[in-house]
Amino acid sequence: MNFDQMRNIDLKKELKNRGLKGYSSLKKAELIEYLSTGIHSLKNTNESIEIVKDKIHEPFSEDTEYSTTLLSKTYKKLPINQILSGDCLQILPTFPDGVFDCCITDPPFNMSKKKGLGWAFSSHVTMQEQWDIFSKDDYFQFSVDWIREVLRVLKTNGNLFIFGSFHCIFTIGFILQNLFDRRIISQLVWYKPNAQPNITCRMFTESTEFIIWAVNNESKKAKNWTFNYETMKGMNSDKQMRNMWEIPLTLRSERKHGKHPSQKPVAVVNRIMLAGTNEGDLILDPFSGSGTTAVVADQHNRKWIMIEKDDTYNQIAQMRIDELSNRLFEENLIKSQNLISHGSYVG
Ligand SMILES: C[S@@+](CC[C@H](N)C(=O)[O-])C[C@H]1O[C@@H](n2cnc3c(N)ncnc32)[C@H](O)[C@@H]1O
Repeated sequence: MNFDQMRNIDLKKELKNRGLKGYSSLKKAELIEYLSTGIHSLKNTNESIEIVKDKIHEPFSEDTEYSTTLLSKTYKKLPINQILSGDCLQILPTFPDGVFDCCITDPPFNMSKKKGLGWAFSSHVTMQEQWDIFSKDDYFQFSVDWIREVLRVLKTNGNLFIFGSFHCIFTIGFILQNLFDRRIISQLVWYKPNAQPNITCRMFTESTEFIIWAVNNESKKAKNWTFNYETMKGMNSDKQMRNMWEIPLTLRSERKHGKHPSQKPVAVVNRIMLAGTNEGDLILDPFSGSGTTAVVADQHNRKWIMIEKDDTYNQIAQMRIDELSNRLFEENLIKSQNLISHGSYVG
């Protein structure tokens, strides 16, 4: 898209289509900058932010340090274990370089259809989500933009796991390998034994998703990435873990706080988390949806920051996180009471 040749009104329409807000008083150059980077001048930034719940955070708060130069605002204190409500293309630039150990994320796949049947892939749901509809060019640009920012905020040699289907995985792989020259370590295949049948009978029944595992360094320089080989072997009857994982669709019990059309099973994210991160690591998910990454990170004592622009999903995520933390609290209480009653606790 050539933004320079577009009228202001069309630039604004384009921003609206991309779900970006707060552009009403921007000048043409600023509109173009906003479209190309997902960021715009600070004076308007707050317009796009709503706080839905006490625990879902406004990303630009008193903990944010603003500098006078456009586009250079950074967190004084990282919002650890918080869901940030808003567009990741606006929020990621507020983080300093190289702070995350790992990013596990499930971006829009661009497989929804405006009309008719989209690809129903994680339960009996047809994907017709606005956040998942892009033109081919826009999807490419969107993917370049968020991947560039994620690579900036990830530590050197930090792990990056990205979900995708055939609709987008080649684009994402191309961007990582060819544009950013990142080392791809593996392509994981999640095989869904209970995938729903193909009702058109014109093609194979879609029953896989892919996860690209890349390391944040130039392909020749990548080294010392985290891979918990023994843990994976232990989870696979003491045989080397293969890159094809047979795991059923998201369980109904994982959706009890509300449905997300592409919620990932805890079991898939769990395996990624245990393979590619260590206790205490800081994990990023810029497309957090119903918060599966945070739920699994909490379970394994990892820290996290989630970003999601839809507050309905943020509320589901917060309920899942709260439920788990209550359960972990109760389990720890029972464990410590047992230790005390068996006399093995030394206070
Ligand atoms: C494929 S879903 C993630 C589902 C998640 N893995 C789960 O288990 O629930 C992608 C999510 O990204 C969100 N999203 C799309 N574009 C976004 C953006 N620019 N910034 C933040 N969130 C975005 C959508 O609202 C959607 O919830």
